[in-house]
Amino acid sequence: MSEVVILEEIKCHSDDGIIQKWVINRPSKLNALNQEVTNRIKSLCREVESRPDVRLVIITGSPPLPAAEGKRQKPVSFIAGADITEFAGKNSTEIEQLFRDNAIEAIWNLSVPTIAMVDGFALGGGCEVACSCDIRLASTRSKFGTPEVTLGLIPGYGGTQRLSHLLGYGKAMELILSGEHINAEEAVKIGLVNHIYDSENLEEETLKLAQTIANKSSNTIKIAKATVRAAFENTLKKGIEIEAEAFANIFDTKDAQIGVNAFIERKEPKWQHE
Ligand code: COA
Repeated sequence: MSEVVILEEIKCHSDDGIIQKWVINRPSKLNALNQEVTNRIKSLCREVESRPDVRLVIITGSPPLPAAEGKRQKPVSFIAGADITEFAGKNSTEIEQLFRDNAIEAIWNLSVPTIAMVDGFALGGGCEVACSCDIRLASTRSKFGTPEVTLGLIPGYGGTQRLSHLLGYGKAMELILSGEHINAEEAVKIGLVNHIYDSENLEEETLKLAQTIANKSSNTIKIAKATVRAAFENTLKKGIEIEAEAFANIFDTKDAQIGVNAFIERKEPKWQHE
């Protein structure tokens, strides 16, 4: 049986660091997230935290398989949501267990940066996976939405909260209450995705950005990510205090000294990731 999440490792240009690419691989179900997929994502998240060489994670979906004879071609999809068939007949206790400490929170809590590389449908849980990543890059043919209300449900992987932060109250409400899909141009306009590219260029552009980030000091990058995150959970005043402390503390790291001295000596920094 094929892996439900294919793991690819790409070497960093500057040293022996690794960029991981996780390909959600259920193309016949438009990469919908079933329990097997979410369990695998959680185990991949644990592995990343135990591996200092992993600098960044890219999450994407498998392309569609060629159409079977007499069947229509399935559409391109990043992730078309949680697997709806797993919701049938479930009560609140069962769902609560399933969604507690879920895979989307595990992605959100990764200390390394994450990029969602979206080609095709990013609906429901798929949109929420994208929102749990730090950066979203998409193809021009992508479609986004939170259609849960059309099933009599609401987003359950953090969508109500993260979309409000990302888009603001009004746009988040419109997306969640209407259940309508929006195209990539609209998604970039409202800040749901950072950039859009033709589908042929999406991977190259994603890897370019991934390399740019992965070739920095991984220690500095983790501190930067955690400090930006403080803006989500704190008042501005508290967030500024957190940044001031992190900024002062970073001067005790090796890489801050390496980076500053490399600039002064007009050399390329050789990070120790410490
Ligand atoms: N869960 C389970 N299966 C899903 C799925 C999901 N979220 N999304 C798509 N699939 C399956 C379909 O059941 C179908 O399976 P089959 O070929 O074995 O019958 C296959 O993926 C292809 O989807 P299909 O609906 O035939 O493609 P389409 O081109 O007609 O429509 C979508 C594409 C994305 C618009 C449509 O599949 C859809 O609306 N999916 C659900 C999106 C959603 O509500 N997500 C939130 C879930 S909480």
